[in-house]
Amino acid sequence: MGRTLRFLVVLLAALGLLAGLGYAVLARITSGWFERDLELRSSLAVRAAHDSLAGRWTSDRAGLTAILSNIARDERIMAAAACSLHGELLAATEGYPAEFPCRSLLERMRHAAPEDATSWTMASDLAAGPVQVGVFLLDGDPEPLGAVVLVHDLRFLERREATTRNILLVAFFVLSLGASVVTLLAARFAWKRWNLELRRALGGEGTDEFQPLVRDVRALAQRLAEEREQEGRAGAWSAERLHATLKKYLHGERIVILANREPYSHDRGAEGVRVLHPASGLVTALEPVMRACSGVWVAHGSGSADRDTVDGDDRVRVPPGEESYLLRRVWLSEAEEQGYYYGFSNEGLWPLCHLAHTRPVFRAEDWEHYVRVNRKFADAVCEEVEGDDPIVLVQDYHFALAPKMIRERLPRATIIVFWHIPWPNAERFGICPWREELIAGLLGASVVGFHTRQHCSNFIDGVDAFMESRIDREATAVVQGERRTLVRPYPISIEWPVHWLSEVPPVAQARAEVRVELGLAPDALVGVGIDRLDYTKGIEERLSAVDQLLQRYPEFRGRFTFLQVAAPSRTKIERYRELNERVEALAAEINARWSTESYHPIVLLRTHHEPTAVYRYFRAADLCYVSSLHDGMNLVAKEFVAARDDERGVLVLSQFTGAARDLTEALIVNPYDLRQASDALAAALHMPADEQRARMRSMRRLLSEFNVYRWAGRMLVDAAEIRRKERMTGRFGAGRAAWGVEGA
Ligand code: G6P
Repeated sequence: MGRTLRFLVVLLAALGLLAGLGYAVLARITSGWFERDLELRSSLAVRAAHDSLAGRWTSDRAGLTAILSNIARDERIMAAAACSLHGELLAATEGYPAEFPCRSLLERMRHAAPEDATSWTMASDLAAGPVQVGVFLLDGDPEPLGAVVLVHDLRFLERREATTRNILLVAFFVLSLGASVVTLLAARFAWKRWNLELRRALGGEGTDEFQPLVRDVRALAQRLAEEREQEGRAGAWSAERLHATLKKYLHGERIVILANREPYSHDRGAEGVRVLHPASGLVTALEPVMRACSGVWVAHGSGSADRDTVDGDDRVRVPPGEESYLLRRVWLSEAEEQGYYYGFSNEGLWPLCHLAHTRPVFRAEDWEHYVRVNRKFADAVCEEVEGDDPIVLVQDYHFALAPKMIRERLPRATIIVFWHIPWPNAERFGICPWREELIAGLLGASVVGFHTRQHCSNFIDGVDAFMESRIDREATAVVQGERRTLVRPYPISIEWPVHWLSEVPPVAQARAEVRVELGLAPDALVGVGIDRLDYTKGIEERLSAVDQLLQRYPEFRGRFTFLQVAAPSRTKIERYRELNERVEALAAEINARWSTESYHPIVLLRTHHEPTAVYRYFRAADLCYVSSLHDGMNLVAKEFVAARDDERGVLVLSQFTGAARDLTEALIVNPYDLRQASDALAAALHMPADEQRARMRSMRRLLSEFNVYRWAGRMLVDAAEIRRKERMTGRFGAGRAAWGVEGA
């Protein structure tokens, strides 16, 4: 709509300019027309009266005057006169202007151009207005008898000219406007068609049905436009820019991150202690942020050799070798880990927030552990901060209560919470027996972030339903007393460029190596899926889609192998153990159906893989299938795109991931719809190279811009803005009561 308006304004300005120019040109043209018309009429009138005039020329002056008066009856002729060849006035109508004596007129005619020898005109101005004087020689034998002078009133002419010009101008204007409207409509139509064509081209033959939701594409386009506008010319987000942002807006203050999962764990194996990088989207995203910002990461020390590698304050510098920030480990007893981590976090909140058909289990003992452990971590955070107004980033569903607990101890802190998983609608959230406590805990933060707007509005609806508070929908904030908590979407991403990739072989080498390792032919087609073994990831649906692919597209039997890497996760929970068994059984069943002596369609690797190994698989694959049944974001999809610097490979992506809103050039599927998913796998395997390139290039461009530094930077900038406002309104000095902490 805005674009159309802008077009119309420009159009009208152009038409105005054209009209100005057109008016001048038309004025010249019309006055030329009318002058010629006048001359013609006059000479006709004189010629028609020739015989009568000639008969009375020298003998009958009264008769001559009568004929001249007759000619001058025409309303355009003001006066007429008859002149002898020598310039003597023979007769004239009444009021013939003295300014045009016969002698001087004939004299001037004689000096005029040869084509004006028999009739000559000139324009002149009288007090009454402009006139045109025409002098016409009257034929005689052997020489002309004399001349008839006609004085034309040009005011009449001017009026007619003006009317004609105006009519022409209006016609011109209407025509131009009509033409422009037609052009506009044609352009809009063509734009729509072009868009359709483009989407069709991107979709390729047979891939039309795997398009993202139009709503998602629109939301992405709007976000891109808004963010580009806000970002202005600041350039791409990088570790350096994030660091500079922290310095500029928050004076380089130390950041403290609270997250359950640690970025590095020390584990004792047969060959001694080794450092592991846990499989966690949260770690993937936050670790580069910490490297850029430095500070402290407070986490559960879960590795078997973690206690042996910390100093007296339970800290260790990481990353090993680089040591750019501190990891503070917090120890949990088995009972605490059971109740807080396995129990309330992963049997209660995790299934509550994911629509994946697993019932949440809420046990009062788990809740008590959850409260106690949240306090333990909140205390650890308070020990790590410097000063009384630190910046604390609280991560995920393990710590819903910590923001309020930290706020109670550090009222001036800037606390940002990021919830990495979906937030359910109010009705669903309402089944949690401690729903009010959870929300109150989160509202201790200055900012609560989610991946999507939908999750933000679910959260706000929950606040509205279960809490005493005011919702500022305009600013998407919750107001309790004097305290405000902003609720904002910050779609998370990965680092760009991914630092691991420098240690990963290039695509051709990775392809060859992995095919040899899996015992496949060099030209075998390979699909890959990489997840924690979690029921939200849709691994069973994924394997079943491969089964259907082989059933419905026989050309892939014996040629296509799907490599599923499934890192064991939360294995003390029954549901996860059951999933492990089901996935194993399903893989075996599918393999039994399609295997030959040398071919097995499913390769299942159920061990932890370090990031370099994961990236090598991404590079070796023809496609990656992310089939989550529900996922806040899913960074595996983004990592696959990051790995493919050859701009090849196809991403098949569940529409129930947050990532599907960003990666709209993936083949978007409903993972429950096995027919559709298997069609998408087939389309991916058949996809021509240039289409793969077009899709991959576009997704890579988006990720290079929308990387994790931007994610963190935008949250920090928002937090800085809140700090600035609070300092300006003097609330920092007002003490605990002003923060509404006492009663909270
Ligand atoms: C999800 C959660 C993270 C968690 C990760 C791995 O991505 O949002 O907070 O770290 O799963 O799960 P785990 O239980 O092993 O930490």
